[in-house]
Amino acid sequence: MQSATSTSSLWRPWTPITQQAGSTRIVEAKGNRVRDAEGRWYIDGISGVLNASCGHGHPRLIEAATRQLQQLVHYDPMVSTHEPAETLASRLAQILPGELNETVLLNSGSEATEAAMRIALQYWRNIGQDRNRVITFAAAYHGTTHLAQQLSGLPFTVSEWAAPFPISHVALPASPREMRTAESADALIALFAKELENGPPAAAVMVEPLLGLGGCIVLPTGFLARLRRLCDDHGALLILDEVFCGFGRTGRMFGFEHDGITPDLVTMSKGISGGYLPLAALTVTTPVKETFAQEPVAQGLRYGHTTGGHAVAAAVANTVLDVIAEERLVENSATQGAALLEGLQKIESPLMADVRGLGLVVAIETDSPESAAALAEATARAGVMTRHERGVIRIAPPLTLTAADTAEILQAIGTAVDGVAASRR
Ligand SMILES: Cc1ncc(COP(=O)(O)O)c(C=O)c1O
Repeated sequence: MQSATSTSSLWRPWTPITQQAGSTRIVEAKGNRVRDAEGRWYIDGISGVLNASCGHGHPRLIEAATRQLQQLVHYDPMVSTHEPAETLASRLAQILPGELNETVLLNSGSEATEAAMRIALQYWRNIGQDRNRVITFAAAYHGTTHLAQQLSGLPFTVSEWAAPFPISHVALPASPREMRTAESADALIALFAKELENGPPAAAVMVEPLLGLGGCIVLPTGFLARLRRLCDDHGALLILDEVFCGFGRTGRMFGFEHDGITPDLVTMSKGISGGYLPLAALTVTTPVKETFAQEPVAQGLRYGHTTGGHAVAAAVANTVLDVIAEERLVENSATQGAALLEGLQKIESPLMADVRGLGLVVAIETDSPESAAALAEATARAGVMTRHERGVIRIAPPLTLTAADTAEILQAIGTAVDGVAASRR
């Protein structure tokens, strides 16, 4: 029989060496559930890697991948195009607002960040201006490659090597819980204004619509609209990282839609292919792309990957867009997310310092990292997989979650909270 826990040579990223052995082995996933090697089924409270928005084993997505595998696996993006990539780029242009019409296809969220940085910085050179400073949240997470990691000020992303251009980090002016107040919105926008007013002119401001790995922090309503105006006033490009929030996660197709803005660049990954295959996209406005005719060396983009816009991944992404529309997953994310948030807010426990969320990303901030670990473990025993980082438990189930699944998650967390509290008495 297969061992229930891992003992292999596999080196898991972001995990202490001492915790590698004994990792749970997941062997199967169907719909909104996953099964471990001991035969236990769980509600998948983390959508695979926060990306299985359409659920697992969706027949339409498997069929789309199979059909494309039989037709054409992939072909050199430097010498040709193919139908799945062209269709995906034009469908993204249709669902994104304004002049966001030009898409580069990549493999991972970090690559989309890399491409966004290169394009944003090169844009200023193309138009003969010297701007290279980028402003981000200190609590941001934009990926794990050298450059993407530098954009974050989170302690676990701190790098030994210097960034190739200046980065200014904006710290939150209040605790995550207080970030929902109007005063915090004013304080936050004042901090971005200060960064834009002082120092060398900023090339770009890059933000997530909701700070995911930074603690699942919901930003104040209207913040992005005010940030858009600030960027316009200072001539800086606004880059929205929709890697986690995009494709319905927050109850809108894109997180920035909550504030009705149009960014200059948008990065996407995770939900774009429902996690079935690696895929990412960076979409920029037509005026930004057009400046690349003046790019001095290549008169175009000096960036790309062998498997960027892989035909099978792009074919799946096109079907993901159909599934999202036909199964009304954005609406379901808003409805089930609101029910989950409301249910969690009713649980009273000193273990829980805050409960927050937007659409189907909901977080429980506990009173300590130890409590989060104990609560996540008890929640898994009660049948729901979650994820916790630095004291915050994140719940981001597939957008196909049913009302019965939501009730089951609430029941499991309620049981887990009671269990952990009882064990401490
Ligand atoms: C907001 C955000 N940006 C970028 C990334 C990096 O994506 P990837 O892990 O695919 O490189 C992530 C990954 O979690 C993310 O949440």
